[in-house]
Amino acid sequence: MFKDKNDVRRVGIIGVGEYLPKKVLTNADLEKIVETSDEWITTRTGIKERRIAAKEEAVSDLAVKAAQAALADAGVLAADLELIIIATITPDMQFPSTACFIQKSLGAKKAACFDISAACAGFVHAIVIAQQFISTGLYKNALVVGVEVLSSITDWQDRNTCVLFGDGAGAAVLAPVKSGGILSSYLGSDGTQAELLMLPAGGSRYPTTHETVDKRMHYLKMQGNEVFKLAVNVMADAAQIVLKKAGLECSDIDLVIPHQANIRILLALAKKLNLPEDKVYFNIEKYGNMSSASTATALCQAIREGRIKKGDIVLLDAFGAGLVWAACVIEW
Ligand code: ACO
Repeated sequence: MFKDKNDVRRVGIIGVGEYLPKKVLTNADLEKIVETSDEWITTRTGIKERRIAAKEEAVSDLAVKAAQAALADAGVLAADLELIIIATITPDMQFPSTACFIQKSLGAKKAACFDISAACAGFVHAIVIAQQFISTGLYKNALVVGVEVLSSITDWQDRNTCVLFGDGAGAAVLAPVKSGGILSSYLGSDGTQAELLMLPAGGSRYPTTHETVDKRMHYLKMQGNEVFKLAVNVMADAAQIVLKKAGLECSDIDLVIPHQANIRILLALAKKLNLPEDKVYFNIEKYGNMSSASTATALCQAIREGRIKKGDIVLLDAFGAGLVWAACVIEW
């Protein structure tokens, strides 16, 4: 078995996959729904269009397609999967876990299954969690999926939020690797900022009633500018922490795969890390903010486009509602 100096197994990503719904919603389409403009959305966020799931598509439907692509890429059979972790804030239902629906669709009978709630940082959290299970030897592989149908919790009357989000899924298969793999990882949280970004109703605090629906409390609420101020700092700090843990410098990074919340956040992050823009991967223009699916699909697309090669140092860096944040450094 391949072990590092701490006598744990090295873990890497051995396959990736994605699925984006067919329907494209452009800024011009949004101009017909709320008081906004392509100019405002483009300059304030960098988003031009986003994907919207079909009415009959739930989160698990998107996830299964991304998962099947990742399993094929990894050369792993669903029947051999030992762990499935789904990162989502838009599960099919409050319970059972979306991971169990996905297990059923994949036929992954042997797998342990659960969901995690870490919003936009969910995919990176799930990778770090899966890494722990595999490095200790409890499981020999894991499927992690970052997946969202944010259109189902978006208030299409609120121009402050409805222009930002999209739907999609990205998946990764993790397993022990002989060299490289995840070099370091870090998770952080600040619950004092929990009010900044939430879906207030539908849980035990405000169970769904006619009143909560009338007050539109079943839709995502966000204090965008407050989140913006914190985002750059927590992402930059997380990056510095994982680089230091891995014994690396910013200049060692070949590509950053950040959460895609706003182009201005990503450009500020690049500046703070003293990295040229071409070392940061962007897919926000085409897909908007897909929460946990943003980092997942960005990783998949970067690999497909040849932006990540064997031996490259890749930084995954994300933040989201909670507030929570997560980063890891991977040698490809
Ligand atoms: N079209 C036109 N005008 C708009 C729109 C719109 N779609 N939305 C807001 N405005 C207006 C506001 O009403 C405001 O007008 P006012 O000055 O007359 O009051 C003005 O634009 C500026 O509003 P701000 O909110 O200050 O705009 P800001 O520059 O902060 O940009 C944005 C807003 C894009 C939301 C930005 O703050 C942002 O990206 N924040 C971070 C979001 C984020 O990272 N979320 C975390 C992840 S999401 C998750 O976890 C699910």
